[in-house]
Amino acid sequence: MAVRKGNLDSICPLAERMFLSFVSLSVSEHTTKGMTVNTPALCFRSKKILAPMVRVGTLPMRLLALDFGADIVYCEELIDIKMVQCKRVVNEVLETVDFVAPNERVVFRTCVREKDCVVFQMGSADAERALAVAKLVENDVAGIDVNMGCPKEYSTKGGMGAALLSDPDKIECLEDTISLVKRIEKTGVAAIAVHGRKKEERPQHPVHCEVIKAISEAVSVPVIANGGSHDFIKEYTDIEAFQQAAGASSVMIARAAMWNPSIFRREGLCSLKEVMQEYIKYAVRYDNHYTNTKYCLCQMLREQLETTEGKKLHAAQSTQEICEVFEMGSFYEETTAILEAKASLKAKTQDEDEQMEDTDVIKMAVRFDKREYPPQITPKMYLLEWCRKAKHPQPVYETVQRPLDKLFCSVVTVAEQKYRSTLWDKSKKLAEQAAAIVCLRTLGLPEGKLNEGENHLINKRKRENEEFLNNKEHEDDHLVEASHKRAHFTEGASDSSSSEVPQ
Ligand SMILES: Cc1cc2nc3c(=O)[nH]c(=O)nc-3n(C[C@H](O)[C@H](O)[C@H](O)COP(=O)(O)O)c2cc1C
Repeated sequence: MAVRKGNLDSICPLAERMFLSFVSLSVSEHTTKGMTVNTPALCFRSKKILAPMVRVGTLPMRLLALDFGADIVYCEELIDIKMVQCKRVVNEVLETVDFVAPNERVVFRTCVREKDCVVFQMGSADAERALAVAKLVENDVAGIDVNMGCPKEYSTKGGMGAALLSDPDKIECLEDTISLVKRIEKTGVAAIAVHGRKKEERPQHPVHCEVIKAISEAVSVPVIANGGSHDFIKEYTDIEAFQQAAGASSVMIARAAMWNPSIFRREGLCSLKEVMQEYIKYAVRYDNHYTNTKYCLCQMLREQLETTEGKKLHAAQSTQEICEVFEMGSFYEETTAILEAKASLKAKTQDEDEQMEDTDVIKMAVRFDKREYPPQITPKMYLLEWCRKAKHPQPVYETVQRPLDKLFCSVVTVAEQKYRSTLWDKSKKLAEQAAAIVCLRTLGLPEGKLNEGENHLINKRKRENEEFLNNKEHEDDHLVEASHKRAHFTEGASDSSSSEVPQ
């Protein structure tokens, strides 16, 4: 089922109340440039699933859960308002796709390894926004989930999470639960995940397997049982026991996986030390923020937080310090050195590629510095004015932004010749001015600089020499004509500058 407006529109008002914790909408078709391409559908039968967990369900935890045997992994709940502001960026160094906020923070990072099994969970109380977020991520994830179960205030106060299930009078009534689930089923969702607790119950309360079972029997879409970490699931074999008790198609695990993600391992749990080291490897490899890494490791350490190791972890203020606590200092150095080398190689090859590509572009290493110009005078203005006088079409600027460092480079076309600076700038405006300078300097034209007088004369002399050589060597009528035009304009400008300076 592709995410369509109709589905999301109808789910929000439909979700009126009760036990139901969250609803999974699965995307099994991906759209690319208006075409629908079929990909293998995300199947929710007999699956062991990492549950959505705020702060815990970031990329390192998801990858580790997959390594240990999870079939499907949910990301932490991400709020639609935050997500709609994000830009999708391909991170070539980390080999990830990043959704980056305007303040440059990575809100959601994913990679090809999890593409067919990661479900994106969003918090939303607005169908339009939910749709926009679904569209933004749909080609990078296997499914979309709308959180209808979170009882925490940060979700419910915005009308999200369990607030979508909002009628307290009917919360006790199983019949209403069943009729709600049936209505949700009709919207075409691929699966329904049920956290078997009431909104006001806490995680330590017993899970209501009988309610999950009744829901499973009432609908034909797969039901995913959730809520078993405290009472049921201590090791791998308990997962199946919970699935049977709940009569569900699949099982979703949160806390048991947060404490030790090797819960998904068929052969049994691994030691916490081993698990934490594997987690740290992913955290370093994918440049996870150290505060997030620290939080997840603290959840794993639990009672051991008071040990020497726990205290050191608590005090760590960087990924490197975290690595040192777990005797992984050399792993950190080796991995970051590889990533840094990759980043600089990438930047270098990118520059080289560009140099190769645009052999017909005249280049110089220049930057525009506003302090070198009188107020309100810019090289772009000078270039425009010269084009008008020389009866050339006005300059055309094309600007590109480099993904790696987000710097800009502009190419200006004047009289069918392209010019650009080899130095990349912080803004499009600066890049355009730099390109204009390259053009003006190549043609020996004034740029409007405060100390123009001297440079101007030097340029003029240079130009006359070049013209002489050109005329002699090439006897090219067209070039001769162009050179005369330039000489004429420059002479005019130096003699009576007031009439030539653009207004
Ligand atoms: C640290 C933590 C964060 C959670 N964050 C989310 C979340 O982002 N979205 C969500 O739907 N549920 C969230 N939950 C609820 C869990 O997904 C799950 O429904 C609940 O913990 C019951 O499952 P369990 O018994 O396996 O722990 C969170 C739970 C924990 C412990």
